[in-house]
Amino acid sequence: MIKSRFYVTTPIYYVNDAPHIGHAYTTILADVLSRFHRALGDDVFFLTGLDEHGQKVQQAAEKRGLSPQAHCDDLAPRFTDLWKKLGIFNDDFIRTTQERHKRIVRSILQKVYDGGDIYQKEYEGLYSVAEERFITEKEAESGQFREVKTIKEKNYFFKMSKYQDRLIKYIEDNPGFIRPEHRRNEMLGFLRQPLTDLCISRPKARLSWGIEIPFDPDYVTYVWFDALINYISAIGYGSDDVKFGRFWPGVHLIGKDILTTHSIYWTTMLFSLDLPLPEVIFAHGWWLMGESKMSKSLGNVVRPLDLIEQHGVDAVRYYLMSEMNLGADANFTPENFIKRYNSDLANDFGNLLNRVSGLIAKNHGGIIPDAGVATLAEEDVASAGRALGPKVEGLIRDYKVDEAINEVMNLVRQVNKYMETQAPWKLAKTDLPAAGRVLYTATEALRLSAVLLKAVMPEKVATVLSILGVPDSGLTWGELKSGVALPSFPALFPRIEVEKKA
Ligand code: ME8
Ligand code: MG
Repeated sequence: MIKSRFYVTTPIYYVNDAPHIGHAYTTILADVLSRFHRALGDDVFFLTGLDEHGQKVQQAAEKRGLSPQAHCDDLAPRFTDLWKKLGIFNDDFIRTTQERHKRIVRSILQKVYDGGDIYQKEYEGLYSVAEERFITEKEAESGQFREVKTIKEKNYFFKMSKYQDRLIKYIEDNPGFIRPEHRRNEMLGFLRQPLTDLCISRPKARLSWGIEIPFDPDYVTYVWFDALINYISAIGYGSDDVKFGRFWPGVHLIGKDILTTHSIYWTTMLFSLDLPLPEVIFAHGWWLMGESKMSKSLGNVVRPLDLIEQHGVDAVRYYLMSEMNLGADANFTPENFIKRYNSDLANDFGNLLNRVSGLIAKNHGGIIPDAGVATLAEEDVASAGRALGPKVEGLIRDYKVDEAINEVMNLVRQVNKYMETQAPWKLAKTDLPAAGRVLYTATEALRLSAVLLKAVMPEKVATVLSILGVPDSGLTWGELKSGVALPSFPALFPRIEVEKKA
């Protein structure tokens, strides 16, 4: 496959509360994809950050008796600290209150205004305070919007309607642009209604926490018009043409809650700026707690830090990545977590490592045995191992992270069966080199699987590969070295014992 450029973004999260597992999910997803792409040799840039303006943040600050900026400065480290603990390896972290961003937002507003795509008018309409935007009658009827009231005021509008036909054509001509497929259809359905223009200002009298409109100091910029621009301000739009040209267009990972703002607002803004549209907008599903969405406003969130403390970072990353089929909703329960951990990590993966290293210690002096001459049984394992890398690469390039992980685990399970049928503990009594051949093959397959799980579980895999004496090994079958002594090590994924209810 062609090596390429991979610019990936997460939404910039509102700093109205501490991050929860939903935020952690998208950020880990971006991290896993960018680690994979880096390993494939792609030119990668991974951006995440914070959305610090607007009503939600102003209200959260007021509640705490702080100025909005002090509130943001106080909460920002909760996000960056958590990302550090979760092993997130991002290239940049943008905060929309940074001057580098505000400057670009102002210049874009001026440019779009000068180009004739922004005008002022008095407007009366339905406004969702919770969603922070004017909504249509139809949207109000859907019942999905909270705190709806009628507002009448003079504002600035962006001529979104002007680009409706062009956007429809673009989405139709580019099947992989909005993913998954059912989200693309949802947006095409939305675009069958006439598109209204977008209100992009808020009178300071009503909301003061935002970027001032350069051509009218009585207004601040609507938070979404400000926030979406982070995707280009961070990579040098208007300040570093070389960097911008190198990375734009990018891949936006988002939750399905913000699909419209990305596929309609952002795309038409880019049309107005005469810039290419994003390469992909990928809307993943929600983590649910029972029937309802896990959300800050519902107060039913799982604290990522608690999970990390109990089970370790990599187990959390593994769970989130393997449990959610990208695009569908998933249910988060502690029982699910333990079940998947015990079956995949403790049983399949951890146990294989314990078995091969235990047998190598017991029967082969703790030294990785010779590969020997492969029989049909070894050929089976080796050919599955050789096919796995390209298969996983294809799945990752297609955003099928859970399937990629499952393919790797299939090899691990195949090797566990191979161990059962070959029984190297029995073979050792009659034919030591044959037992060695089996153990070499099983260990090599384990090594290869570990390499492919590196993006998901960077720490644990680094430990496995260093135990095996090949920390920098890659995807070629046979990189495991015979003759290397295995150190002893504590169990990597100890089983979680569930207390039986009396
Ligand atoms: O919307 N399941 O910020 P936000 C899965 N600032 N993902 C979830 C989730 C859940 N239960 N809850 C949240 C905003 N997320 C804007 C974005 S972008 C220019 C501006 C994740 O703090 C998911 O990625 O409400 C979702 O899109 C995002 O958090 C919303 O975060
Ligand atoms: Mg939200």
